[in-house]
Order: sequence, then structure tokens, then C-alpha cells
Amino acid sequence: MDRIQHLILWAVLVECCVAERQYFLHSNSSTWEQARLHCQACYKEMVSLTPDNIQQLAQNLNSSYWIGLRKTLNNGSFPWSSWSNGDPVTFQNWYPGRPILSKPKDPVNNIFNYNNYSIPPNDCGCCCPSQSNPASVPLTSTTDYSFTENENMTALSTMTPDVTTMTSVMTSGPTFFTGVTGGTNGTNGTNETATDVYIEEPCIALLSFGLWFDKICSELLPYICYEDRFYGNAKITNKTLHNATLSWTRGPGDISGYRVEVKSTDYNLTLNHSSLNRTYDLSNLTAGTQYRVQVFPIKCWRDLNPQNVSFYTKPDVIKYINITNVSETNIFLSWPAPEGNRGFYSIQVRDQPNLNMNTRTESAEVKGLIPGGLYMFEVNANVEDMSIEGDQTNITSYSKPGKVSNLKASASTKDSVDFQWKQPAGNTSGYRVEVWVEENNKTRSNITQKTQTGTNFTAKNLPSGAKIWLSVVALVPDGSVEGELSAAMGLTTPDKVRNLLLVPTADTINVTWTLPQGNFETFSVQLKLNFSNKEVENSITNASHISFPKLMAGVAYNVTVTTLNGNLKSEPESVTNFTLPLPPKSAKINFFNNSHVNLTWQAPTGVQDVQITYLVKYSAEFWNDTEIHETTNTSYMFLKLKAGTNYIFEVRVKAGTQESDPIQTSQTTNATVRVQTMTMECASSKPSFCEDIGARTEVLKQLQERFSKTFSSKVQDNSSWVNNVFWELAWREA
Ligand SMILES: *[C@@H]1O[C@H](CO)[C@@H](O)[C@H](O)[C@H]1NC(C)=O
Ligand SMILES: *[C@@H]1O[C@H](CO)[C@@H](O)[C@H](O)[C@H]1NC(C)=O
Ligand SMILES: *[C@@H]1O[C@H](CO)[C@@H](O)[C@H](O)[C@H]1NC(C)=O
Ligand SMILES: *[C@@H]1O[C@H](CO)[C@@H](O)[C@H](O)[C@H]1NC(C)=O
Ligand SMILES: *[C@@H]1O[C@H](CO)[C@@H](O)[C@H](O)[C@H]1NC(C)=O
Ligand SMILES: *[C@@H]1O[C@H](CO)[C@@H](O)[C@H](O)[C@H]1NC(C)=O
Ligand SMILES: *[C@@H]1O[C@H](CO)[C@@H](O)[C@H](O)[C@H]1NC(C)=O
Ligand SMILES: *[C@@H]1O[C@H](CO)[C@@H](O)[C@H](O)[C@H]1NC(C)=O
Ligand SMILES: *[C@@H]1O[C@H](CO)[C@@H](O)[C@H](O)[C@H]1NC(C)=O
Ligand SMILES: *[C@@H]1O[C@H](CO)[C@@H](O)[C@H](O)[C@H]1NC(C)=O
Ligand SMILES: *[C@@H]1O[C@H](CO)[C@@H](O)[C@H](O)[C@H]1NC(C)=O
Ligand SMILES: *[C@@H]1O[C@H](CO)[C@@H](O)[C@H](O)[C@H]1NC(C)=O
Repeated sequence: MDRIQHLILWAVLVECCVAERQYFLHSNSSTWEQARLHCQACYKEMVSLTPDNIQQLAQNLNSSYWIGLRKTLNNGSFPWSSWSNGDPVTFQNWYPGRPILSKPKDPVNNIFNYNNYSIPPNDCGCCCPSQSNPASVPLTSTTDYSFTENENMTALSTMTPDVTTMTSVMTSGPTFFTGVTGGTNGTNGTNETATDVYIEEPCIALLSFGLWFDKICSELLPYICYEDRFYGNAKITNKTLHNATLSWTRGPGDISGYRVEVKSTDYNLTLNHSSLNRTYDLSNLTAGTQYRVQVFPIKCWRDLNPQNVSFYTKPDVIKYINITNVSETNIFLSWPAPEGNRGFYSIQVRDQPNLNMNTRTESAEVKGLIPGGLYMFEVNANVEDMSIEGDQTNITSYSKPGKVSNLKASASTKDSVDFQWKQPAGNTSGYRVEVWVEENNKTRSNITQKTQTGTNFTAKNLPSGAKIWLSVVALVPDGSVEGELSAAMGLTTPDKVRNLLLVPTADTINVTWTLPQGNFETFSVQLKLNFSNKEVENSITNASHISFPKLMAGVAYNVTVTTLNGNLKSEPESVTNFTLPLPPKSAKINFFNNSHVNLTWQAPTGVQDVQITYLVKYSAEFWNDTEIHETTNTSYMFLKLKAGTNYIFEVRVKAGTQESDPIQTSQTTNATVRVQTMTMECASSKPSFCEDIGARTEVLKQLQERFSKTFSSKVQDNSSWVNNVFWELAWREA
């Protein structure tokens, strides 16, 4: 029990300290009961006095006023124990000698006659006959004024200059004095002190100079009411583009209704609302607009302190976003303004938390992107205080991929060129490559176009010796943008010459060939000794023939022709051939016996330091024997020859399929002599004839001739005879 009491007390204390009290002085004279009923209906209660407020109140009085104190509030309560609002009476400020506590010996009638009171109290306890317009209350001497901070204080300050000053001072204190009536010629202080009689159940009036005086309750006096200043809380919920729901706090006491005022730059709404239904659906609002709302509770035709709320409607969604410009790191967005109003726009790059920005125009350039990256941009309208934001509209876009770098030709053949390059900074999904062949300085013909992911490319099936251009652009997966174009040139190697032909003489080789297909600039012709591979001469020509004079005879030469185009070379084309051979020189028999002959000779004129193949041949006519040998030396030993035979030796130079003319020499091997004896018989009819020396000589001559025919032969140019085989004919008499 004690505890509950304690809690209640605490609550009261808090309310007392938080609440800001407002005082209302009513000048229309009423009985104490009437005054209290009016205060309860239109305010909280009659005033209760404390040391704090009495001084403030007293300074503004010019007559006596009923206050919320009487001897006994209700039956059974302790006299003088509490104020009409229930506060305990902890403080007293009586006029000297008051109240009169005991019955006087000579009771005095009341000064005021109850019957004088012509206007009965109405339902609300007010004495006013009509409350439709407080300003036109007919009781001219007791016109009821109440001042709140909403009303004009100017008239008041002219009458009681202190009040306004006091008001501003009081705003910081726990109580607040809002106003006082004036201009009445009611009772004045002098009259109050006049009644000096005992009153059985007195009601208490505050004299104009601040002391308390007990009076007969039916006396007609102005009175003071008070009320705690009202602080309500209006709220806006369910804010949409065009609607919002307004709700507010119930006002204190007997509220007759509420006046709702909604304002914006293009919208005014004022409406009166029943006290039961404390919500209202606002409609027909403009999107993204600020509205200021005031809700005034109305009590006895009096506006209480309004409940204020200000809100923004939701901004409308942006219909679409256009990507107007895309570069490698920047993307430019624009969009139409949404319907209604908005403070600014927010742009968020999705998954890039540090990439967001605000703008007040209908466009923005988002910077700092990665080339070739995929970005989603979300744009929404926002209101100034960011209390509510519009729905987002999004658009995705790739930034432009970077430009490939280091594009160059790396290797080439006569019909293909390899190109390679480096991936650009950022992302790329692949490349589109295009091959062009430069026909001459100006025109180019497109050969291939291809999309690929690798960073190298081999252009194939190209003409030889041609300028090949490759262009590469980096791509993004959807192909919406592509990178800057990079291009590089490569060359195919030129084609080799065809029909390479060597036409030799003994000391010259004439070289001819057919021009290659495709482009070329010059030919490099190299002449080499085939035997040692040693270069003899190297010429550059742009003709299709060349002649190499002053060569050695009978020597194999190798001619290589390479087509040149810029610094590119074709495959070499080579042919080997011999110059026509010349015969060797100075064939000599160095040595011989009956079976061996050693033949020596010299290389042909002008030939040196090369290996030459010689063909050596002997022939023995007598024996009809011939043999040919090949040698690279300049001497040859013939073995196993027949004795006493005349051999003819020939030496030729062999050059490929060609052979030189021979040089000749001959030699008769040493004979191994054997004697054959022939006997000849002479028979003649003339006996002396056989003895005749002449005849014998003739016979011998014929015999000599006969042998010569068999064993010798005539040397062609002269008529001398050469023995093919050794023989001698000798004569001996039998
Ligand atoms: C308030 O006082 C001013 C100055 O005297 C006057 O112009 C104005 O009309 C008054 N307003 C009301 C509502 O009485
Ligand atoms: C109040 O009474 C005095 C004389 O008693 C008079 O001069 C004055 O005009 C009256 N004032 C009002 C507002 O009636
Ligand atoms: C004040 O009292 C005197 C006599 O006591 C009376 O004549 C006068 O009318 C009273 N004044 C008021 C305003 O009641
Ligand atoms: C108060 O009453 C006395 C006499 O009763 C009168 O002389 C005086 O003018 C009155 N004062 C006011 C302010 O009405
Ligand atoms: C707000 O809207 C929700 C659903 O849209 C509804 O359930 C709720 O009652 C509304 N609140 C008010 C105060 O209108
Ligand atoms: C707004 O209110 C109007 C009429 O009051 C209604 O037709 C409309 O559907 C409401 N819109 C929303 C989003 O609640
Ligand atoms: C709304 O009312 C205010 C004054 O009450 C006025 O100045 C304003 O022009 C009004 N606006 C519209 C849109 O009616
Ligand atoms: C508020 O008033 C409207 C009409 O005035 C009514 O339709 C609605 O039901 C009321 N709402 C509440 C909560 O009383
Ligand atoms: C909304 O505005 C339109 C045109 O201004 C008007 O016709 C309509 O009655 C309004 N609706 C409400 C609920 O105020
Ligand atoms: C912007 O986008 C809209 C819708 O996608 C399109 O109709 C319009 O033509 C675009 N405008 C420009 C300038 O690209
Ligand atoms: C982007 O907008 C489309 C409609 O325009 C929506 O369906 C989609 O969910 C949005 N995406 C994101 C990630 O917000
Ligand atoms: C080809 O280009 C080179 C250098 O660009 C120039 O010197 C030459 O005259 C051009 N030839 C033709 C046929 O245009």
C-alpha cells in the first residue's frame, strides 16, 4: 500500500516538473462553483497557488479572483487540506486576520443576494449564455478573455506593460503565465477588506495585492483557471508517392475537435475533424514534396498548442536511364526527371561501395571504372532530408575495354605471318582480329575477320612478299562496346625464283631464272666453289640473269639465288654445275720398265686449289687393249703392262658429264727379247737368181714390209712407222 502511494506521488511530481502551466484569468464574474465548473470543462482546474506562482499572478491582478481553494472541498475531507486539483495545501498567504475561524456573536447576512444572479450556469459550467463567440459575450463588465501564445499580445502589453516581460522570463521557469484580463471596473481591494464577518463555508479569493481572503462562495468574482501546456505528437505513416496517413495524440480533457492544416508550396488544406477519429488519410499529394502539418486540438473554441509534423512524400521512380557516353574509365548517365519534386539523385554503382554519388541534375558521369568491366548503376530520387527515397532504377553497362598493346609481327613465312599482342588493362572477353593485305600504298583488301580469346594470331594463305596489316580490338561479352583499334604491319617472305639455269663455258657461267610470284625487290646471287664451299662472288641484282666470268675451267660451281624483299629473304634456290673442262697440260712419262709406266701431267691452265677429276686411258693397238682409270692426282702408275708394247696414254679432265679433250703421249715398254728363227728357201728356175744379192735384198725388203704391216703402224701425220710391239728382223746366211 505504501509503495503504491509512493509511486503515484512520484508520477505526480514528474508531471508537475515537466508540465508547463498556463494561467487563464476570467473576468466574467461567477460564483465559485460556476467558476470551477468552467475551469474543469475548458481547462484543467482552478488555479492552485504556490510560492512560485503567486508573485507572478499577483502582479497582474487588478481585482479579486476566485482561486481553487475552499474550506471543505467535499464532505468528509479535512478542512483547508487540499486545493481543488487535489494538491495539498502546503502554503498559505492570508490577509491579516483571515479567515475568521469562529462564529461571531452577531451573524451578518450575505452581502450578495443569490437572486441577483440572473444567468444560471449552463452545461459546461460557464456562465456565458452563448459560447459561439467569446468576443461577443454580452456581459460587458465581465468579458471573458483568455490569452494564449497564439493570440495578439500587443493590446495586453499596452494595458499592463509588465506582462509581456514576465511572460518571456517565465518561459524558462516551471510555470508560465500567459495573460490576464483587464479593463474591468469590478471590485477593488478596498471593498474586500470591508466584509469582516464569519462565513460558515467560505471560498477563497486572491486579492489584487496577492493575499487570500475568504468570501461567500456565491459571490460573483472573476476567477483564474490553469492548464498544463499540451504537447502532442502527430505522426505520418505509410508515406507513398501521393498518399500518407496522419495520426496524432488525443488532446487533454474535453476536446471538441481538431483542426488539421497541411501546407506545401502548392498545396493548402484546412479541415476540421471529429475528436473521436485521430487519423486522416492525406491524398492527392505530389511525389517528393515537403508538407508541413499542424493539428490543433480545439477545446472550448480555443486552439491548444498544435502538434507539428513535417514530412516528405516518396519521390517518384525514374522511368529509364540512358547511357550516353562510354569510355574506358567513365560512363555518362542521363535520365528524365521523375514526376513531382525531388531534392537530388543518388547514384550507386552496384558492388562498388565506394562508388556512389549524388547529383542535382538529371545526369552524372561515373568515373574511376575499370576498362571492360560490367557495372550496374542504380539511380533513385531522394528528398533533402533523406527521410524517404524513391525506388531505384537500374541499368547495366560495360565500360569500354582498353587498347591492346605491343601488337607486332613475330615470324613470317612466304604465306603466313604470326602476330602477337598484350592483353589491355582491365577486363576483356576476347578480340576481333582483321587481316588486310596492302596491295600498294593505298588500297588494302580484307582477307579475314575472326573473333578469338588468345593473344596471338597467325594470318595464313597470304601472298608472298606482301605487307600484311593486322588490326585488333578488345571486346566485351555482349559486344556493346569495343576497345580502340590497334594495328601493326608484317611482311610475308618473298617467293623463291624458279627455273634456275646455269649455262657454262670454260671460264664463264651465265645464270638465268624466272621471276618469283608476289612482291620482291632484289635477288641475291651467290657463287661458291662446290668442292670447298668457298664463296667466290656474291652479287645483288634486280634482273633475272647474271654472268660470272673469269672462272676456272672444269670446276663445279654452286649458284644460290635468294629473293629479297625488305629485310625478308625467300628460301634459297641452288644449282651446281661445272664450267666446261680444258685439257690438262704436259703429259710426260716419268718412268717405265717392262710392265709399269708412270705418267704425270699438270692441271689445266688457271686451275688451282681445286680438286679435279682426271680420266687416264691407255691403249695398245697391237693387243687391242684399252683401259680407263679415274684419278684426282696428277700422276698415274700403270701396272701390269705388257713388255715391249707401244702404249698410247691419254689424260682428260672430267667435269660432270663433260670431258675435256685429251692430251696424249706414248711409251713402249721394255721388251723381253725372244728370238724366232725363220728359214727361207729360194727356188728359182734361174739358179743364179737366188744367189743374186739384189734379189735377196728385195726379198728381205718385202719381208720387212710384211712384218711392219703386222707389228707397226704408221704415224698419221708423217709416214714414219711406229712399232706396236717390239720386233727386229735380222738376216743370217744359212
Ligand atoms: C495584433 O496587433 C497588431 C499591432 O497592433 C495589429 O496590427 C494586428 O491587427 C493585431 N492582430 C490581431 C489578430 O488582433
Ligand atoms: C472604471 O470606473 C471609473 C470610475 O469609477 C471610471 O472613470 C472608468 O471609466 C471605469 N472604467 C471602465 C473600463 O469602465
Ligand atoms: C464597495 O463598498 C461600498 C460600501 O461598503 C459600496 O458602496 C460599493 O458599491 C462597493 N463597491 C463595489 C464595487 O462593490
Ligand atoms: C474603490 O472603491 C472606493 C470606494 O469604495 C472608490 O473610491 C475607488 O475609486 C474605487 N477604486 C477603483 C479602482 O474602482
Ligand atoms: C499502413 O499500411 C499497411 C499495409 O500497407 C497497413 O497494414 C496499415 O494499417 C497502414 N497503416 C496506417 C496507419 O494506415
Ligand atoms: C492513394 O489514394 C488514392 C485515393 O485516395 C488511391 O486511389 C490510391 O490507390 C492510393 N495510393 C496508394 C499508393 O495508396
Ligand atoms: C496557402 O495559404 C497561404 C497562406 O495561408 C498562401 O500564402 C499560399 O499562397 C497558399 N497556397 C496555395 C497553393 O494555395
Ligand atoms: C474515421 O472516420 C472515418 C469517416 O469519418 C471512418 O470511416 C473511419 O472508420 C474512422 N476510423 C476510426 C478508427 O474511427
Ligand atoms: C485529387 O485531385 C483531383 C484534381 O486535382 C480532384 O479531381 C480529385 O477530386 C482530388 N481527390 C481528392 C481525394 O482530393
Ligand atoms: C533513352 O532511353 C529510352 C528508353 O530506353 C529511349 O526510348 C530513348 O530513345 C533514349 N534516349 C536517348 C537520347 O538515347
Ligand atoms: C534492375 O531493374 C529491374 C527492373 O527494371 C529489376 O527487375 C531488377 O531486380 C533490378 N535489379 C537489381 C539488382 O536491383
Ligand atoms: C608509297 O609510300 C611511300 C612512303 O610512304 C612513298 O614514298 C611512295 O611515293 C608511295 N608510292 C606510291 C605509289 O604512292
